[in-house]
Amino acid sequence: MAPSHTAHVLVASNRGPVSYEVQENGELTAKRGGGGLVSGLSAIGPEADALWVCSALSDGDREAVAQGVGEDGVRMLAIPADVHADAYNGVANSVLWFVHHLLYQTPLEPVFDAEFRRQWASYETYNRAFAEALAEEAAEGAAVLVQDYHLCLVPGMLRELRPDLRISHFSHTPWAPVDYFRMLPDDIAAQLLRGMLGADRLGFLTRRWADAFTACATAFAGGLGDTQVGVHGLGADADFLRERSHAADVEERIVGLREEIGAGRKTVVRVDRTELSKNIVRGLLAYRRLLESRPEWLERVVHVAFAYPSRQDLAVYRDYTAEVQRVAEEINEAFGTPGWTPVVLHVKDDFARSLAAYRLADVALVNPIRDGMNLVAKEVPVVSDEGCALVLSREAGAYEELGEDAITVNPYDVEQTAAALHEALTLPPHDRAERAKRLAAAATALPPAQWFLDQLNALKALDA
Ligand code: F6P
Repeated sequence: MAPSHTAHVLVASNRGPVSYEVQENGELTAKRGGGGLVSGLSAIGPEADALWVCSALSDGDREAVAQGVGEDGVRMLAIPADVHADAYNGVANSVLWFVHHLLYQTPLEPVFDAEFRRQWASYETYNRAFAEALAEEAAEGAAVLVQDYHLCLVPGMLRELRPDLRISHFSHTPWAPVDYFRMLPDDIAAQLLRGMLGADRLGFLTRRWADAFTACATAFAGGLGDTQVGVHGLGADADFLRERSHAADVEERIVGLREEIGAGRKTVVRVDRTELSKNIVRGLLAYRRLLESRPEWLERVVHVAFAYPSRQDLAVYRDYTAEVQRVAEEINEAFGTPGWTPVVLHVKDDFARSLAAYRLADVALVNPIRDGMNLVAKEVPVVSDEGCALVLSREAGAYEELGEDAITVNPYDVEQTAAALHEALTLPPHDRAERAKRLAAAATALPPAQWFLDQLNALKALDA
């Protein structure tokens, strides 16, 4: 593609706003996604000359690129499937995600061997493809907003190609503490930090993750240099959620869910992508402990757990999903009765059903081992019909904003989580409703469009 040098605002992320599927008749169909970046980009308006650079992820996406099918404002990069798999599955999701979420079982992993080095070379190639595309597309002095751990090397690479650009990088994940980050090979750790520090501005979801990055930069890269660090706590989109959660398909799902739950029972709701970091298994163990230790809840509560597929190319994710299912079945076998299923588990993604569960929630359980923000914690209090109680891990980014009105837990402590579930289920209705109101207000303080605009404005202001 010929360099256009016309875009004034560029976003770069691994997953883009659109994906393609090849139908049986050979035709391509497009599916659009949502999320904070989509709202943000639509808020800046068409006159901003915005471009979203993303990677082709599927065969359908690659076919679309090959046929020249695309959307205005989106450039999809046809990175070869094997290079993408090494960069995305091998490095980003199996190493960087693990480092930032503290997920290794350290007696046996990580092992940084020749295979890792081979995958790392693909991560470099993949980052370079983004940097080159951004360099081609950006107008003089344009603002480039690079997203996430997939693209840590892009700011540094792009800075070399186009010193005129204003470059930011935003981490949607936590950042690792110094002692965990230093597990990475020294040269790789240095390269990652150099890549990030090529940006004019780095954004994080909470002060805690921003401080962790600064500590790593200080320990291994001689400090932040000229790079500014900012905190932007992405909030829930209240208007969208309130309207969407009353649509006909959600009402329909409510009827179905009510049948599964049974009349007069309380609900403990969780909705997650099945990430290892979400701690779904310990959540189930805590619920089992609640039933064991507080028999008054037998027949009177249902745990509605939605664990949607994520990153199923990775065996460890598939195994984790199987473990979630196994433990849920075990609980149902141990405690269930003909009229009561203690755990209602669904693993097929259904957004309308998620919203239906939010509306019915008496208690929301959000207990990640570590999480950049966790938007579910912010969404349920906004949507729940009666105002829910929130059991929240102190290791979720959302804790910084919601901690005061949540019942907080150490995510590893199953006994404490069981006690927190009991406390949440027995909160006096007035207290629960008041807390939920305050939770919803805090959760929606920075809606997605404003979250994006704040970052863009802060980046542009650096020149002034
Ligand atoms: O939730 C953190 C996050 O890094 C998001 O920014 C990003 O959209 C997602 O995880 C990546 O997930 P996936 O591997 O499904 O693209």
